Amino acid sequence: MSYDIAVIEGDGIGPEVIDAVRPLIERTADGYGFGIETTNYGWGSERYLEEGAMMPEDGLDRLADHDAILLGAVGHPDVPDHVALHGLLLPIRKGFDQRICKRPSVLFEGIESPLRGYSGGEIDFVVFRENTEGEYADVGGREHRGEDHEVAVQTAVFTREATETIVRTAFEAAAEREGHLTNITKSNAQAYSMVFWDEVVAEVSEEYPTVAVERLLVDAASMDLVRRPEEFDVLVASNLFGDVLTDLGAIVSGSLGLAASANLASGDEPSMFEPVHGSAPDIVGQGVANPLATVLSTALLFDYLGESAASDRLWEVVREQLADPNAPRTPDVGGEAGTEDVVADLADRL
Ligand code: NAI
Ligand code: MG
Repeated sequence: MSYDIAVIEGDGIGPEVIDAVRPLIERTADGYGFGIETTNYGWGSERYLEEGAMMPEDGLDRLADHDAILLGAVGHPDVPDHVALHGLLLPIRKGFDQRICKRPSVLFEGIESPLRGYSGGEIDFVVFRENTEGEYADVGGREHRGEDHEVAVQTAVFTREATETIVRTAFEAAAEREGHLTNITKSNAQAYSMVFWDEVVAEVSEEYPTVAVERLLVDAASMDLVRRPEEFDVLVASNLFGDVLTDLGAIVSGSLGLAASANLASGDEPSMFEPVHGSAPDIVGQGVANPLATVLSTALLFDYLGESAASDRLWEVVREQLADPNAPRTPDVGGEAGTEDVVADLADRL
């Protein structure tokens, strides 16, 4: 079995972490008896600055036949953030109907949480974020620009189909983990979309009688993710709320440099795997970017391909490495080592 993976290294530290991790990906695949073929697409902000577009017009067609996509990061100081996002990431997420965004938050042994009193293993939750619509729907407009009576309208869109998909996926995960589900909304203030969301959660919950459901408003959830992160297991949230809460989730579990994510397609089109972090212009070119978020995103990719033994092994070596006080680690998690040292050590452990 061989898989055909599209690789978009992107901007900033994207190429650094992807280049470092690529040999590890091949080595892991080798060890578990499957092949990985990669095709590089050099799309991103450099292309935008030279040619005026983040990716070619037929970009989605070129990605469509791959088994999956691995992405580094996008974002460049000379390119407005909404251009980078709307020129590459969002078209892929929406165009391939990647409506499920899965982001685990794990405080590994050996990693210090900025929260006092938490040690490894005590924080372990996963957020399922709706990924194609909600508050990020491209619906709205502006009138009377620059006038005193200027008006901006931005409309959120919630479909039953996408809402049911994300909610059911979260219940499925909670059932599998033998855990519970926290439904994050703001249905006191947003009486249409969020009350609808709550209704969908109530309906789907009947299919999962073993999964207890907790309801939290997003403001209370932000507080509780700091106050009692150990009590969370599976969370489900809309596009905007999930975006905000997963940065919080990344930092309570130690570093953005450890946070991985999967954008899962609802149909046959390719899913995309990427570290949660951005292009980190402040550390680009220094060789100190933490590659572990990309390694764990690869673990999510292997799991999606059905190669769960290879996936489990990657989680295991990352766990082992972080728990070893003598192992190299990057500055974001308190070490002095570089990107390459961390990957070389992982390769030895494999
Ligand atoms: P960022 O995630 O790039 O950086 C935030 C902070 O975390 C920085 O101090 C950075 O040095 C640190 N950091 C991030 N990844 C790290 C890693 N692997 N190892 C060690 N430290 C790491 O977010 P920021 O600074 O808000 O955005 C920079 C650019 O990235 C912007 O253009 C933004 O639009 C873009 N961005 C792209 C994302 C994506 O491609 N999915 C996600 C978030 C931001
Ligand atoms: Mg975000």
